[in-house]
Amino acid sequence: MPLTLTHDVLLKERTTLRLGGPALAEAVVSCAAGLDELARVLPGLGGRPLALGAGSNLLAADGPHALILVRAANNAPAELSNQPDGTTLVRAGAGLRLPRLLGFCQRAGLAGLEGLTGVPGRIGGGVAMNAGSYGVELGSLVSRVRLWTPEGGLIWREAKDCAFGYRHFDPQLGTGKGTSANFWLIWEAEFILRADEPFAIRKRMEANYAKKKATQPVTAKSAGCVFKNPAGSSAGRLLDEAGVKGKRLGGMAFSTVHANFLVNEGGGTAAEALELLEYGRAMVFDRFSMNLETEVVVLQ
Ligand code: EPU
Repeated sequence: MPLTLTHDVLLKERTTLRLGGPALAEAVVSCAAGLDELARVLPGLGGRPLALGAGSNLLAADGPHALILVRAANNAPAELSNQPDGTTLVRAGAGLRLPRLLGFCQRAGLAGLEGLTGVPGRIGGGVAMNAGSYGVELGSLVSRVRLWTPEGGLIWREAKDCAFGYRHFDPQLGTGKGTSANFWLIWEAEFILRADEPFAIRKRMEANYAKKKATQPVTAKSAGCVFKNPAGSSAGRLLDEAGVKGKRLGGMAFSTVHANFLVNEGGGTAAEALELLEYGRAMVFDRFSMNLETEVVVLQ
């Protein structure tokens, strides 16, 4: 099926924090023909489209959302093409899971992504958030991104024409040669990787995962770090020193492993999560006069 439409989908079933009320509908698109069909039906669905990947960086409110969740299901194995300069271009669909891409590249002897070991999410969300970990930002490896808009269809956008920042990506469709658009969906991306020994790549991945497991609640229901690190500082350390670590409200808590992670310990609500988030922000402000900015995408 190129396009599958489901009405009344619960965001708590689509997010790793397991929070969030119903969205109007969900459109799962598996191929380019499905995108054409989506462009036709979208205006009639009556909600704002929201691109959703693995939902691993999302805090969605408990109430109903006038949203159409758009999910790319193009998750075929990545395609490789060797370049004259010795690098390899790796083309991956937005629906492919990041851990699967990392495993594939390790086996193929392609290095560059190892820092992202243990980062959940799919290619689309990873690029859209410029996921980063242990010195690697996904955006730094992107050669080009293929985006879809209902008005313009699919277009390739070179990395140099896009803006990548700290957990930030903007394809800058309103400028230059692109079309202006409110909604865009990442459909696929191409990465530039370099050759290395599969064993050496595996060792680096294992070391990164061990570090992550020792310092982050990797198996808890969370959305990763909730606040951005202020320049030259660490939100986790600030929250910890402000006494927020382990603070609970109902089924939600700031992790006892890493203070910048909100975790759903079971039966938590978004209202509790949002109250805790503001509590953490206020405690850090009181103690350090620093304003923490949310990193997690909050859907009110
Ligand atoms: N720290 C504390 N208490 C805590 C947590 C951390 O004192 O509860 C201290 C640590 O001891 C360390 C410092 O804070 O000295 C920094 O901590 P850590 O090394 O764990 O890294 P981070 O800055 O908190 C960032 C990213 C993570 C990413 C790691 C590894 C942000 C907001 N966080 O965390 O990304 O995995 O570096 O590269 O940029 C995410 O994006 O969701 C995320 C988790």
